[in-house]
This record gives sequence, structure tokens and C-alpha cells, in this order.
Amino acid sequence: MIFGIFALLSTMIRAETATTEVTRDYCSLPDPIYADGVSAADFGAAGWSYANAANWADFVVTCGGSFQSPIEIVTSGSTQESVQPQINYKSKDANTAYEEANKPYTKEYEGEYSEIEVTDASGSVIRYYAKQFHIHTPSEHTIDGKYYDLEIHFVHQAIQDDEQDCNKVKNKLTVFGIMFQETASATDYEVFKPWFDSNATGEVESFDLNDFFSKMSDNTYYHYNGSLTTLPCSQTVNWVVFQQALPISSTQLKQFQDFLSDSTVFPIKHNNRPIQHLNGRKILKGTAIAASVTEIPDVEASFAQTLAMAILMIVFLIQ
Ligand SMILES: *[C@@H]1O[C@H](CO)[C@@H](O)[C@H](O)[C@H]1NC(C)=O
Ligand SMILES: *[C@@H]1O[C@H](CO)[C@@H](O)[C@H](O)[C@H]1NC(C)=O
Ligand SMILES: [Zn+2]
Repeated sequence: MIFGIFALLSTMIRAETATTEVTRDYCSLPDPIYADGVSAADFGAAGWSYANAANWADFVVTCGGSFQSPIEIVTSGSTQESVQPQINYKSKDANTAYEEANKPYTKEYEGEYSEIEVTDASGSVIRYYAKQFHIHTPSEHTIDGKYYDLEIHFVHQAIQDDEQDCNKVKNKLTVFGIMFQETASATDYEVFKPWFDSNATGEVESFDLNDFFSKMSDNTYYHYNGSLTTLPCSQTVNWVVFQQALPISSTQLKQFQDFLSDSTVFPIKHNNRPIQHLNGRKILKGTAIAASVTEIPDVEASFAQTLAMAILMIVFLIQ
């Protein structure tokens, strides 16, 4: 009997803990379709690079699909969208840092962090988690023909849980694109420093994903169905590209450019995929609402845990 209570209590505690730990069941991306003679194991070794960006479909057929990214955004051709998503990262966890990922094609920080609710280009409200952000220089998207100096991609992936079914999520990823333009008066962003500071641990602890958005005075965005802009070019991205460019200092821009120093992989120090055909896709336009952050305490004994401990104490006392 006592043993039964213990089993029950430990189940209760475990069930509660699972919701507070970072153990997420991410929706998987569609399988890439490889070209004849190319396999998943060797397409990386086959040497895709920005020098052969026009030929990526020779490795992965998906890269020649009709919903590819990036695109040229013609603002006059966009349609006003009625639903305006909130840029409000919830559950900001002060205890989890972003770790630098060692990527040959970009600079990237990874983590499993804040939740965000976004209206997918297909109209459904989907919950995603921010997983990583990385850079491209110059920008991948163009807005009315203009390239910006740099574009950051915030990559979010949808999750499967009691309230959300991956089968009903059309775009498994939402990527926010933010433009940056070299500006003489710009001060360096702290969050970029560990990438280039030889003394740094490669970790960023204090960065709040809401920060860049809160620096924008205009939250106009363009929204469309697209793809990853690197292999395997998976066509499962809900793209949200913000119009207003943020300032970046010459020093930090040069650091990014200099990182792309291998001229066989990055001709002219670029890591942007060429513009892809729109193929009749619609571009929606809207204004995001930058809401205030609701910080949720990281360590907090739940009601079930407290109750379980109280029952345990009573069980011991009556023994
Ligand atoms: C995105 O794709 C979905 C599903 O194919 C479609 O219903 C939706 O209209 C598309 N959105 C736009 C903006 O074209
Ligand atoms: C790295 O640390 C050394 C010793 O503390 C210091 O002299 C140097 O300026 C630091 N380098 C950078 C890039 O901060
Ligand atoms: Zn990217």
C-alpha cells in the first residue's frame, strides 16, 4: 500500500517535471529528395557551397522546387493581412544560454528556448520554439530590389504536444528575417561579440530574443510560404521578413564578412543564396505587435510537487 503511494507520487512528480524541463517533441521536416546518385550521407561531402548555388538542385531535387527562398519582395504587390501576430517571446528562461554552433557556412547560436505563437501563411495559429539564429551577408531577401548588408534568421520549429498535432502544421518552421544596414553611429551588439572575441566562451547568456524587435520603430513585415535557403531547401518555412533595417557598425559587419574568407566556398565573401522565382506565390503584409515579455520563473515548485511532498511526509509520520 505504502509502495503503491510511492509509485503514484513519483509518477506525479515525474509528470510535473517533464513540463518544466526542456524536452520538446519537434515536428520533423519533410524528407529531402536527393538527385540520382546522391545520398543523404554524401551530399555534404559532395561540396555544396555558395560558389555552386545555382546548381544545388543537382544535389537535392527539392532545391529546384517552386516554393523556394529567398525571394524578391515587391512591396506594392503584397496583400494586407488581417491577423497581426505578436512578437512576444514567452517563457524566457534566464538559466539557458545560447551556445555557438560550429557551422562552416554561417555564424550561429543554438538553444531550445522561447515559445512564440505565429499565424502561419496558411491561416492557422501555430506554436513554435526558437531554436537558433544565424547570419547571412549580404541579405538573402531583397525588398523592392534592395539588398541589405546583413540578414539574421531566427529559426523556430513547431512542436507536437497535447494541444498541437504536427500533421496539421503545414510549415514546420517559422523563420523571422531581420535586416541590418551599416551605419556610422551604430554601437556594437553585445550578443555578436562572443563570436569574434578570442577570449569568449562562445556562449551568450543574457540575450533576450525580443531585443532586436524592440529596437524597431516600425514592425512592418512580409509573410509568405517558402523554404530553407541552404540544403536541403525544405519547403516548409513560414517566412516573416521585417522591413525596417537595424543599424550595424562597420566593425561588426566587417567581422562577419571576414569570417567568410574562404573564396572557394564564399565567392566575394557572401553567404546569401540567389533570389528564387516567386512562381505566383502571394506575399502578405502586416504589422507585428511587439508585446511586453512575460517572464516565467524558472524554478518554482509546482502545486502537484508540493502536494506530493506533503503526502509523503504524512505517509512517513503515520508509519
Ligand atoms: C501558404 O500555403 C497554404 C497551404 O498550401 C495556403 O493555404 C496559403 O494560402 C498559402 N499562403 C499564402 C500567403 O500564399
Ligand atoms: C583577452 O584577454 C586578455 C587578458 O585578460 C586581454 O588582454 C585581451 O584584451 C582580451 N582580448 C579581447 C579581444 O577582449
Ligand atoms: Zn538563414
